[in-house]
Amino acid sequence: MSATVNVNGRITSDRDAVVSVFDHGLLYGEGIYETLRTYRGRPFLYQRHMRRLRNSARMIDLALPFSDADMASQIQDTMGAADPEGGEAHIRVLVTRGVGDLSYDLTATPVPTVIIIVKPQIDLAPDVYEQGVGVVIVDVVRNHPDTVNPMIKSNNLMNSALAAQQAIRRGAFEGIMRNYRGDVSECSTANVFVVKDGAALTPPLTSGLLPGITREFIFDIGREIGVDVREVVLRDDDLFSADEAFLTSTTREAVPIVTVDDRAIGNGRPGPVTHALLAGLRRHAHADQPPV
Ligand code: PDD
Repeated sequence: MSATVNVNGRITSDRDAVVSVFDHGLLYGEGIYETLRTYRGRPFLYQRHMRRLRNSARMIDLALPFSDADMASQIQDTMGAADPEGGEAHIRVLVTRGVGDLSYDLTATPVPTVIIIVKPQIDLAPDVYEQGVGVVIVDVVRNHPDTVNPMIKSNNLMNSALAAQQAIRRGAFEGIMRNYRGDVSECSTANVFVVKDGAALTPPLTSGLLPGITREFIFDIGREIGVDVREVVLRDDDLFSADEAFLTSTTREAVPIVTVDDRAIGNGRPGPVTHALLAGLRRHAHADQPPV
């Protein structure tokens, strides 16, 4: 592992980065984060990620001690120190409650801890996009929205970790979770779409899931290229009977799903709607003036 880390403005190598054991991010998993990546050296969809970070902060009563411009310049400084040798950067921004005594009382932690981790962005191999991947439906249920709401991009990732670990044990690329009602929610680290009769369908936020920035961007691409992209409550059968399926995330863009629980989706090959949406996303990401 090689990373450059900024802890409250102090930029070091990963080995020299230090956080107190009394940080409530460690003690209680109380914190929020964002994962961004660069294209042509610039963080993609930065303003949308900052909007989501502020929403996560609001949902846990955490006051963010920086403006979007402050954070952008801290990210630039950290990337400058990282020198990814012309490659793209994977950026993780974390904000925890901060350091304080063993108490849930917010007065124990008046100063949040702000961490930026910059690593090289490692893209999936091109054949992953050409061949597609196999996923499984895991029996770990996505957090009920009245517990740790999946809308919060929380550092408390036990729910996702358990789902991902079950998927890995079963030899799958990702694990799809259902919500407490048994509807499809999302993957452990990605959103999920199916394609049916030419339309791309994804569960609504009321199915209990993270409002993915890539998911949101797929709606914009759909409008642009004339693909109907819609929110629909999905059940297991909607996965198995889909013409195509794909998952979305910042670091993996849109990855075709060709099997679910070892059952072929459509003809078992990545489909044209998935490819068109992926191509649209990449066209914007690599543009001279990418959207922010
Ligand atoms: N994961 N759902 C979950 C539970 C996620 O953790 C993520 C992202 C997504 C996709 O969101 P976005 O398109 O904004 O990346 C959906 C990131 C990549 C991570 O955990 O590092």
